[in-house]
Amino acid sequence: MREGSATLIRREDYLAPAFWIRTVDLTFDLEPAKTLVTSKMQIERNSAVPHGPLRLHGEELNLLRVLINGDSVSFRQEGHELIIEGAPDADFTLEIRNSCAPEKNTSLSGLYTSGGSFFTQCEAEGFRRITYFLDRPDVMAVYSVHLRADKAKYPVLLSNGNLLEAGELDNGRHFAKWHDPFPKPSYLFALVAGDLVAREQRIRTRAGKDHLLQVFVRRGDLEKTEHAMNSLIASIVWDEARFKLPLDLERFMVVGVSDFNMGAMENKGLNIFNTSALLASPATATDADFHRIESIVAHEYFHNWTGNRVTCRDWFQLSLKEGLTVFRDQEFSMDMAATPSARAVCRIQDVRQLRAMQFPEDSGAMAHPVRPDSYVEINNFYTATVYDKGSEVVRMYQTLVGRAGFEAGMKLYFERHDGQAVTCDDFAQAIADANPGSALTTRLDAFKRWYSQAGTPHLQARGSYDAEARTYTLTLKQSTPATPGQADKLPQVIPVALGLLTHEGQALPLQLQGEAAAAGTERVLVLDQAEQSFVFVEVASAPVPSLLRGFSAPVVLDDGLSDAELLTLLKHDSDAFNRWEASQRLALNRILAAVRSGAPLVLDAAYIEAMRAVLRHAELDAAFKELALTLPGEAYIAEQLDVVDPQAIHAAVEAARLQLAQALATDWAEAYEAHQVKAGYAPDPVQSGRRALANLALAMLVLNATQSGDSVWPGRAYQRFKDAGNMTDRLGALSALVAAHAELAEPALARFHALFKGDELVIDKWFALQGRTPELDGKSFARVKQLMQHPDFTLKNPNRARSLIFSLCMFNPAAFHRKDAAGYVFWAEQVLALDAINPQIASRLARVMDRWTVLAEPYRSAAREAIARVAAKADLSNDVREIVERALA
Ligand code: ARG
Ligand code: ZN
Repeated sequence: MREGSATLIRREDYLAPAFWIRTVDLTFDLEPAKTLVTSKMQIERNSAVPHGPLRLHGEELNLLRVLINGDSVSFRQEGHELIIEGAPDADFTLEIRNSCAPEKNTSLSGLYTSGGSFFTQCEAEGFRRITYFLDRPDVMAVYSVHLRADKAKYPVLLSNGNLLEAGELDNGRHFAKWHDPFPKPSYLFALVAGDLVAREQRIRTRAGKDHLLQVFVRRGDLEKTEHAMNSLIASIVWDEARFKLPLDLERFMVVGVSDFNMGAMENKGLNIFNTSALLASPATATDADFHRIESIVAHEYFHNWTGNRVTCRDWFQLSLKEGLTVFRDQEFSMDMAATPSARAVCRIQDVRQLRAMQFPEDSGAMAHPVRPDSYVEINNFYTATVYDKGSEVVRMYQTLVGRAGFEAGMKLYFERHDGQAVTCDDFAQAIADANPGSALTTRLDAFKRWYSQAGTPHLQARGSYDAEARTYTLTLKQSTPATPGQADKLPQVIPVALGLLTHEGQALPLQLQGEAAAAGTERVLVLDQAEQSFVFVEVASAPVPSLLRGFSAPVVLDDGLSDAELLTLLKHDSDAFNRWEASQRLALNRILAAVRSGAPLVLDAAYIEAMRAVLRHAELDAAFKELALTLPGEAYIAEQLDVVDPQAIHAAVEAARLQLAQALATDWAEAYEAHQVKAGYAPDPVQSGRRALANLALAMLVLNATQSGDSVWPGRAYQRFKDAGNMTDRLGALSALVAAHAELAEPALARFHALFKGDELVIDKWFALQGRTPELDGKSFARVKQLMQHPDFTLKNPNRARSLIFSLCMFNPAAFHRKDAAGYVFWAEQVLALDAINPQIASRLARVMDRWTVLAEPYRSAAREAIARVAAKADLSNDVREIVERALA
């Protein structure tokens, strides 16, 4: 069934293409069962590489004819290649005609149908599922696209660039002709045809140009596009202001689709979005959804420069566009947040995400550098490492050269490379060259180890104070653990932002030995050796170090601080990130001690009083309090342990949560009352912070009440669930009931389903909430299995599959890791079932087992058995095979 074989592609084997495709004219006769594609390409040989045949990529296509300069030519098909030996030396025209079957395409890569409309997804290698092509990012062509389809069924016909012409054809059909003036790689091609409606907005940018912005969705979803449109406008304004990067198209289109493998896609001028990353109304989307939509709209828009105008030479360079664009969307979100505290909340959320997803990746079977050295299936490398660690790497450039220096580096990058397909080295060189003599430029080669070494560096910091000499010596040591294929690592360049506090919490001036005077109370040390000491002079008293402020490098920090020192930071650190970090470390220390000793967790008065002080604090804002009072995630806790017993971790976290709920009961009740939002709904940082804290308080109150058999708070939660004026409050109240396994959870779940029947994104939340319910006596697992039979459940829609199956396997460790191995059996079944439909989604689910080797018994053996069962399947996709083989290696 599957053609082709699993070959390992290596970065060092990169060769420039033997031919360039300069222009391509595509004609589509769109029919769901069989779409006809005609492609006319202007091709020339690349004289810089050895003479060879023309080899085009093509998958799942039906080839109808091949003409060179209008004449037939001999060719052969081998695996996924169409090979033409006799291609001329002089420039020529190649015409190919083929068909494909969009309706049968369940992989959602290439051209497919969803809800009766046509959509495409070409990144990374989907274009070859539409027509034969040099489907690689360094081949950039100018596209003209002619779409023909039934007018009644597909009134809207879209492709990249500008609309040249549209009109009627015979037999109820119509056409549209599009032209994109910017040469682009095939992965940025897109077409959409369907019965869609658009929200439109005309804007004039700073540069005085007029643009038409359109957001296309299904009929009925138009009211849910206002937030996306506002986010798009804010993104355009921000990129012009911060990086002087203007919108380069007269028309910028965004389209929503329900069946989509990822969040969204930056096709030139025609971004395609998963509806979950686009549609929002206060009644159906949470504050977190509004925030996520804003950042994804921004991310895709920012790709127009970082990704589209300057693209990747090959897929190993993926982080060139993804790491940089994530960095840009994170900076945008921070700038939108406005207040320093709201900025810190953004940073904390980003780091929490990095630690929950990227750190485990970096210590598991799939550990790979930000710029991978090899892959079997490139779709497996759209990872937290490439995206989120990649973004941290870009942030370190900015930390090392300063904000203005970074902007100058970006300017030089575009001056040098606009219109090109380049590498991570080109980016590094541009930032370095724009900042001669900087801490980056003098260490560029060592800095670039961030691209080549996998694994999260461990940074150990120890200080010693000499009262007589009034000096404080800070010794920093680094080491990076071995990862698959990389036994030994060299020291990395680690920017360590820091401050020193007195035990009373005052910031101390920072003067290094050899300096004439103190340079403020915060600075960045650059560690570039395995071990280095820094001596601070004129230090009046033994300080408490506040290290790695703002999480200045993606490392694991061991600062050896005592509880007392962490409490000082929690109370006084001027760096909000480290203040939050202190709260997490205090919790982590207690949870880890319980897990390691096997003794039941008992929270001490010092910790409880510290948490009470945070909750009652007069100045801290609600969003920060909610983050500080939320216990570390179970995945992050597992990262700290050599042997992982998911049940022990869960038990310790649950015990801590319950004790916090009990000990602070009156404080939670006051916080709940004090943080009600009276004003009309807006998803801004202030309101959403208040709602987040109120929801946490409510969850704690319901948990405490359920344990003590009290019915007042569950009753109030049910009432709030019924009366809520927005989805954040409604889902918050529902989650409080469900997480506590309160009796009222059942009627509330039923009511929620009835209320939102037919709204697929909300029904996804309904499934997800149940899939993530903290385990109690096997009930959560049993419920997921039962929900697999629900009439609303389907494996075919990625959002729905994720909402139930991934919620269990990825985000509900205690329900998933069972002594009877039933969770792993379920996982194996679902990976195989999904693989037959959609390899990309199956492969993502397969990754749940990345860290099986660190599991305690009996989980470890059972996990291996389940992975081996998947690996034994003959017909696996390359996607899943690569994951399970790496897991078993
Ligand atoms: N470039 C898209 C984005 O980050 C994501 C594409 C993901 N593609 C894939 N094959 N997984 O905006
Ligand atoms: Zn991206």
